Amino acid sequence: MAKVQRTPSRPVYPTPTGLITSIDAEGRPNIITLGEVFNLSIREPIWVGIALRKATYSHELISAQREYVVNLPTSGMLDQVLQCGSVSGRDGVDKFAEFGLTAVPSEQVRPPLIAECPVNLECKVVDVLVTGDHDVFVGEVVVQHVADDLLNADGAFVLERFDTIVMMPGGFAGVGARLSPTIEWPPKR
Ligand SMILES: Cc1cc2nc3c(=O)[nH]c(=O)nc-3n(C[C@H](O)[C@H](O)[C@H](O)COP(=O)(O)O)c2cc1C
Repeated sequence: MAKVQRTPSRPVYPTPTGLITSIDAEGRPNIITLGEVFNLSIREPIWVGIALRKATYSHELISAQREYVVNLPTSGMLDQVLQCGSVSGRDGVDKFAEFGLTAVPSEQVRPPLIAECPVNLECKVVDVLVTGDHDVFVGEVVVQHVADDLLNADGAFVLERFDTIVMMPGGFAGVGARLSPTIEWPPKR
């Protein structure tokens, strides 16, 4: 396999796309599209990271309110993923109303869930890491919501039913076919 050396730029892929909800001091919600959403600690504790540029309104809101929700979209939501990533809530845009998304109250945090997203993670900020051109907001997942039609009768996740969006160099992709039998992950210790 011949290889060429390239200047690295956003070098790990694919990554999930997330729609991250936050809230201002008056309770007005905002949404930002992120390609940088990742697991940081997967069992004890359950922490996720989101990487935000300082210039975003979401950075300001989450810094002040210390809560956010990670909402994972379906492939049918690509237009809204692009729209929420192309305008700033700082300019007074209500992205729920503007882009046809439905806010529903969370259980334990103030930012709302996005009803159209089948997976929602309510997060409380436990740390902020200055990592370069983004800051990483480390969030403890205090509640996870998963649409029941993604689960089988035993409550196990059926991966073929989760039709989400991943970011790749040059664009977006769906998730591909199953490559393995069902595995338990993380494994029991
Ligand atoms: C597909 C996609 C992925 C993005 N990923 C990130 C990201 O990981 N971090 C970030 O700070 N901005 C990211 N952006 C840009 C923000 O979504 C964009 O600047 C947004 O308008 C900021 O909204 P806000 O100012 O209301 O928070 C992404 C945009 C798109 C379309």
